[in-house]
Order: sequence, then C-alpha cells, then structure tokens
Amino acid sequence: MCSYNTTDVNNLDFKQNDKSSTDDHLMNAVCLRDGDFEQRLIALGCAEVVLPCGVVDNLEALDAHSAHYVLSIENDRIQLAPRDKSMGNPVVVDFSSGTIGFRGRQNVRQELLVKAVLGRDKKTTPKVLDMTGGLGRDSFILACAGCAVTTLERNPLVFLLLSDGLYRAAMDVELQLIVQKIDLQFSDAVVASDAGNYDVVYMDPMFPERTKSALVKKEMRVFRDVVGEDTDVNQLFEQARNVAGKKVIVKRPRKSAFIKDKKPTYSVEGRSSRFDVYQV
Ligand SMILES: C[S@@+](CC[C@H](N)C(=O)[O-])C[C@H]1O[C@@H](n2cnc3c(N)ncnc32)[C@H](O)[C@@H]1O
Repeated sequence: MCSYNTTDVNNLDFKQNDKSSTDDHLMNAVCLRDGDFEQRLIALGCAEVVLPCGVVDNLEALDAHSAHYVLSIENDRIQLAPRDKSMGNPVVVDFSSGTIGFRGRQNVRQELLVKAVLGRDKKTTPKVLDMTGGLGRDSFILACAGCAVTTLERNPLVFLLLSDGLYRAAMDVELQLIVQKIDLQFSDAVVASDAGNYDVVYMDPMFPERTKSALVKKEMRVFRDVVGEDTDVNQLFEQARNVAGKKVIVKRPRKSAFIKDKKPTYSVEGRSSRFDVYQV
C-alpha cells in the first residue's frame, strides 16, 4: 500500500473530466497495459481505471497502433515516451535525480515560487492548493520548503505519471518525509468543490500562447500533444480567488500579460518566469 496520499481512483472513470480538447489530445497516446503496468496500477490504487486513450496489452498490438506517444512501464517507472526519438526523451516523474532532485537539495528558500508563497513571513508554512499539478515539480519544491500541499491534476496520463513518481519517492528514505506533505488528487480544479481552508492557491496552467515557445522545449511539446492547452484559465483564476484564504499566485512567462489583464499586488520575477501574487 502506498504511504503517500492520493484519492482512491478505483471508482473514478477518467472520462469524468469531459473536456473535449483533452480527449482529442489523449488519442495521440496509447497505453501498453501489460502485466507490469497492471501490477503498478494495483500498487497505485488505480486497478480499475478506464484510460481514455488507446490501450493495448501486448507488443504486437502496440506495433500496429498509430499513436505517437506510448505510456508504459520501463525500468520500474511509468513513462510517456514519443515514438519518434527526435521528439525528445521519455517523460518520467523522478524526484530523486535530475534538475528537480538537485533543486530539492538546494536552499529551496531561494526558489522564486517559495519566495512568492512565503512572502515576508518566514516562520509559518502556509497550506497550499496547487491547482495544476503537472509533473509535480512545483508541489515538490513547496513540500521541500515545509508546506502542506494539496495537488490537483485532471489529465489522467499526467496524473498516473505523477502518482507513480510520488509512489517511488515514498519508498526512498531521503524523500518520504517530503512527499508525505503532498496530497495528490485526480480532480478538475475548476469544478472541485473542496474549499479546504487554503492560505495560498497556486496555478501554472498551459496558457494557450505558450504554444510557440513550447516548440523549443521538447518536454513541453509532449505536454502540448497529449495534454493540450488549458483554455479555461480565466475560470481557474476565478475559482482560485474564491478558494484562497490569503493569496493567489499565477506563474507566467516573464514578459507575458497579466491573467485577465488584472494587475497583481506584486510579482516575483526571475529570468524567464514571473510569479504574480494577488492578495485576496
Ligand atoms: C504547465 S503544467 C503544470 C506544471 C507544474 N507546475 C509542475 O511543476 O510540474 C499544467 C498542468 O495543469 C493541469 N491542469 C490545467 N488545468 C487544470 C485544472 N483545472 N484542474 C486540474 N489540473 C489542471 C494540466 O493537465 C497540466 O498537467
């Protein structure tokens, strides 16, 4: 049984998030749901899930499938890999290595997101709702800074990648105390009814205008192909303002416009990104 917190998705039909653009994009992917994958789904508490993408259970059927991306288990990790290797490396959530593992070991108080979330109050660690979980990097950085984070993700493939990353991290002695602070839920934040008393609500959606710049980042290209753009960012922002106890934080590319053209209370700026802080 996993020691991290996640919604028991056994009774969830992944089609419940009826977002037609997402469904179209999911048809770019096929899941190799073989014995190893089934075992991992059981470990994640997701044994009964119905995935709204192509599904095959053997390599022959996989070869015959035309999808451009394959969700499978390789080297004990769930991965989403482009079939065309020039499209980039497999997307995997691994908190123990790579950039995120490195950043988690650094002084996280220097992270711009942490500065935006903590503000001047360095003593208390706020309760955070991360409405756009993605690959969990931001939730992880906040958990490293001591925040309790509820993380929502509505794309079923991304949710499985992140669940799997948290599952493996929960078995790593160096990471388990950190990931225990993350409560991952398969949910659409626009319609989620849980008010939850969050101090800070954070959002980092795939803004439609990110498409062009995404071409340079291969991981982002995979995301765009499989997740699509988040066309409902304005509703997400309104929901964030309803739920937040103290502030809403929106991540934006540094030079881009404010969400809904609404000027934030202040911004924390880096070289490429900006965190707009709206006090409520
Ligand atoms: C740009 S990625 C977020 C990256 C994330 N901040 C990280 O550190 O890895 C955007 C993610 O938010 C998810 N998302 C967008 N709108 C959402 C919503 N209303 N509810 C739940 N998830 C949402 C998308 O499916 C996508 O996986």
